[in-house]
Amino acid sequence: MTATDLTRTDRDSVSTLRADGVEFILDVSAGYPAVLHWGAPLGDISPEALRAMRTPAIPHNDLDEPVDPGLMREAARGFMGRPAIRGHRGATGFSPLFAVVDVHSTDRTVSVFLRDTALEVSVEQTFTLTAEGVLLVDMSLTNEGATVYTLDELLVWLPVPDRAIETLDFSGRWLRERQPHRMPFAPGLRLRESREGRPGHDGTIVQCALTENVSFQSGEVWGMSLLWSGGSIHAAERAATGRATLGVGELIEPGEAELEPGAVYRCPTVAAVYSADGLDGMGARSHAWLRSRPSHPATPRPLTLNVWEAVYFDHDLGTLTRLAERAASVGVERFVLDDGWFGSRRDDWSGLGDWTVSAEVWPEGLRPLSDRVHALGMQFGLWFEGEMVNPDSDLYRAHPDWILHVSGRVPPLARHQLVLDLTHADAFAHVLEQVSAVVADSGVDYIKWDHNRMLVDPGHDGVPAVRRQTEAIYRLFDELKSRHPGLEIESCASGGGRIDLGMAMHADRFWTSDQNDPLERQQIQRWTSVMIPPELLGSHVGPTISHSSGRRHGVQFRAVTALFGHAGIEWNILEATDDELEALRAWTAFYRERRSLLHSGRTVRVDHPDPSALAHGVIGEDRSSAVFAYAQCATASGTSPAAFRIPGLDPDAVYRVAAVEFEPAQAVQRRGPAWMAGVHTTGRALAQVGLRAPVLWPEQAIVVVIDRVDADQTVAPPVAS
Ligand code: DGJ
Repeated sequence: MTATDLTRTDRDSVSTLRADGVEFILDVSAGYPAVLHWGAPLGDISPEALRAMRTPAIPHNDLDEPVDPGLMREAARGFMGRPAIRGHRGATGFSPLFAVVDVHSTDRTVSVFLRDTALEVSVEQTFTLTAEGVLLVDMSLTNEGATVYTLDELLVWLPVPDRAIETLDFSGRWLRERQPHRMPFAPGLRLRESREGRPGHDGTIVQCALTENVSFQSGEVWGMSLLWSGGSIHAAERAATGRATLGVGELIEPGEAELEPGAVYRCPTVAAVYSADGLDGMGARSHAWLRSRPSHPATPRPLTLNVWEAVYFDHDLGTLTRLAERAASVGVERFVLDDGWFGSRRDDWSGLGDWTVSAEVWPEGLRPLSDRVHALGMQFGLWFEGEMVNPDSDLYRAHPDWILHVSGRVPPLARHQLVLDLTHADAFAHVLEQVSAVVADSGVDYIKWDHNRMLVDPGHDGVPAVRRQTEAIYRLFDELKSRHPGLEIESCASGGGRIDLGMAMHADRFWTSDQNDPLERQQIQRWTSVMIPPELLGSHVGPTISHSSGRRHGVQFRAVTALFGHAGIEWNILEATDDELEALRAWTAFYRERRSLLHSGRTVRVDHPDPSALAHGVIGEDRSSAVFAYAQCATASGTSPAAFRIPGLDPDAVYRVAAVEFEPAQAVQRRGPAWMAGVHTTGRALAQVGLRAPVLWPEQAIVVVIDRVDADQTVAPPVAS
């Protein structure tokens, strides 16, 4: 039987979504929704044939009929893994069983309506396959009964094929976010939970399943990630049957979803990304989808100077004005005044919550600085941490009850601060109005918004409030932006503690990590960009001696590392030497010239044979240009380091390849590899033969610029070796 021979009934029970090399087939023929396929398009195959191929044998000691647990994974079907829904109606209703009531589909979406009539609960699931091949899953649950229904968990679970034999997820800590963990997809449940009321430094940004030997360029990847900045669950389960699934959803605090009759619980959207082209393929899809949002930053990402590691709390108009002038002279386009400008905030013990300019430090307000910054042609940015309050603040003294807490106790302090309860209407209004007034009065174009502690006892009036607090910060950001058109907001949480796809919908930049040591930073950026495109990831040239590691690096390694993001400087460049300033100028000029490529192209992480080096870059959409970095992180294993290949260019095109150094990279060689002086070669040769790396000292890097020889050439590399 071919697809065209199908009966009307069978066709109606199967919905297929296809886009950009991804196919998703949903089958409700059994009366409940089950995924027949999520992966590369299968061609002209009938659902019947697909079902027949997937229907397993019936082993001894099992159910008499084979069961696909479907998307709801009810125990009532005989499924013994983690169900999609966990909830109850008092002491009853522990074992739901849903039946399909209705299905609607269009080219891009399928919606399924399910009901458990006995339990009096309905569920709606909507699958949307975007043009970029990202499957967005929305799910809501309605209490149709006359009594309270308690929802403890509702996850979106999607099956992955048996050939997915490994998992990949990420953990981390302050200064070391998003470290990869790759392991066998073993029987049982791998559960990554974020319980901090934010993803946290340890939160995984995605849960992946991988086929054998997945690399950046090859192999199949299935990744699922939550559009949510509160608590989250990312899970991978291989059942005793051998079948593997990924599950993602909100971590619901006990009692947080007590649904009154008629009440609806909506899961945050889940983004499910399939790639047939390795981890870079997953990144490319996620980047393309994020870039397609109407709210994606459309203007060139301004070269930023943030003053935090330059002056910390030592605010002085004279020094900061000189710093701004120096910044403008090296090509900075946005100057950001960090923590310490408000209330009694002379250190991190006090002042959070009092968002008025300190008359002690800024007797004439912030205007003298912001006007000078604007006169120098730069934007003016300002730091806030509006979700927090220090006990030593006017706000806390006036409203000690405006904190998230459990009645009768005060949560333990972290960085001497507590979490302000933004679900409290007056607290929300206080922050909104104070921040808004400063933005208007002080000429603020840009906000860096911090969030420096985890939520402990996050209660409001005795009930958990993480979800409502998360919705409140989204609302606050949106309201600030609508009041101040053009205002951009950076999401920071002691560095990268709140980087997620939910926040990506409300913020314009993430502070990737407080770790400005380029050696550490190479890894953090490499993995954060598996989901987030580089133009959303702040990356700064830090001080010569790193404040977080004590390591010393020249400008070259720091600048090459910071180039592959939304670039900036976080260093007291009043202390920089003339040579360092010259190197910075060459770098900022290069960034400006190449940022449209860096912020729109395909991010490529090279599969390199020598773990001592990392090679990565960005290839322009039309493949006419590319910018790559070769970073020697430790001593190379061979005396003549391995060639690094550059996959993804047009194989038949001829490219001019040259090395770029903003200051000479330190090397131990009598002579560098021949290509560094410039060579014409093909995309095919770059992918297959690659470029022999120079013998760099450890913790040195170079940039490689690749331009098709027939492409417009208006830009010359600043210094070519
Ligand atoms: C933590 C942030 O990550 C830093 O960049 C800086 O803004 C400090 N907070 C300020 O207190």
